[in-house]
Amino acid sequence: MGVKEKISELHERMLSEMASAENRQTLEEIRVHMLGKKGELTALLRSMGQLAPEERPAAGQLINEAREKFTGMIEKRAAEIKVRERELALERETLDVTQPVEKPLIGSKHPINRVMDEMVECFTGLGFEVLEGPEVELDHYNFELMNIPKNHPARDAQDTFYVDDNIVLRTHTSPMQARAMLTRKPPIRVICPGRVYRADEVDATHSPVFHQMEGLVIDKDVNMADLRGTLNAFAERIYGKGITTRFRPSFFPFTEPSTEVDLTCSACHGAGCRICKGTGWIEVLGGGMVNPKVLEMCGIDSSVYSGFAFGIGLERIAMLRYGIKDMRLMYEGDVRFLGQFR
Ligand code: PHE
Repeated sequence: MGVKEKISELHERMLSEMASAENRQTLEEIRVHMLGKKGELTALLRSMGQLAPEERPAAGQLINEAREKFTGMIEKRAAEIKVRERELALERETLDVTQPVEKPLIGSKHPINRVMDEMVECFTGLGFEVLEGPEVELDHYNFELMNIPKNHPARDAQDTFYVDDNIVLRTHTSPMQARAMLTRKPPIRVICPGRVYRADEVDATHSPVFHQMEGLVIDKDVNMADLRGTLNAFAERIYGKGITTRFRPSFFPFTEPSTEVDLTCSACHGAGCRICKGTGWIEVLGGGMVNPKVLEMCGIDSSVYSGFAFGIGLERIAMLRYGIKDMRLMYEGDVRFLGQFR
C-alpha cells in the first residue's frame, strides 16, 4: 500500500471514530493514537526509510499535510464538543420556576413594638433621649427615691415581685427618673421604654408583665402647660389629628401635682361610644410635676429646677390603636394574630 492510500485510509478511520467521539477524553485518545509519538501517522513517517530516496520528499510532504489536516479536524471537533458540553450543563441546571414551593413565613413587628417604635420616633423628634435600665431593680430606685417609703400601700407584696429584701422586679419605669437625674445635669429630656412587673392575675386587661414608657423633663421654668403640650403632640402623632388630652387631678407619691390623662376616644372622636363608655375620653397615662422631694433626693436643686414626668402603658395604647380587645392575645405569639400587623 502506498503512502497516499495509507493516509486516505487513516483519514477514513479518523472521520468515523470522531463522529462517535462525544467527549474530550475519547477525542484525546484518537489524537494520541493518530498523531502521538507512537501514533499511526508517526509510524508512517518512520516507515519512509523503506522508500526509494527519490520517493521520500513527495511522501514526506503528504504526511506533513495529513498531520496538519488531522490536527485541524481534532481542534474543530474539540470546539464542537465544548459547546455541546456547556449546553448539557445548562440543561442539567434548568430550574422549573413553575414548580410549587412552600412559602416561607415572613415575620412581622409585634403590635407593642410597633407603638413603642412610633412613640420613640415621636419623642426623639421632640428632642428626647432614649434611656433603658434594669428590670431587676433596687428597692431604692423603684420605691425609696420615688418617694414611696416603707409601709406605703403601693409596696404591698401582693403587687410587687420581690427578689429579696432590697431587690424587686420593677413595678413601673419610674425608677428610671431617678437613674436619669443621678447621671445627668439639667436640662434633661429622656424617655425610658421597657418591661415592668406586677403580681396581677392574668385577664383581658391585666398581665404580670407589661410595658411602660416613662418620660422626664427637667429644666428651669418647666410647668404643667409644657406637659400638656408634649402629650398633645404625642396624642396627635399616634392617633391622628383632632385627638387631644384631658387632665384630671390624681395622686402619685413622686409627682405634685399629679394628673390622670385621658385622650379623646379615637374610635368615636369624642362623640361617645362603647369603647369609651359614652364619655368620649379614654384614660391612658399618669403624669405630673416631679415632686420637689424627688428632685432633692436625686441631687437636683428644686429652687432652681422643676420638671414633669409621665408614664404611659404601651399595651393600652396598642389595644386602642388596633382595636385589640384581649391583652392575652399579645403574649401568645399566635402567628394568625401577629400576621395582621404587617
Ligand atoms: N409610675 C406610674 C404608674 O406606673 C405612672 C407615672 C409616671 C405617674 C410618671 C406620674 C409620673 O402608674
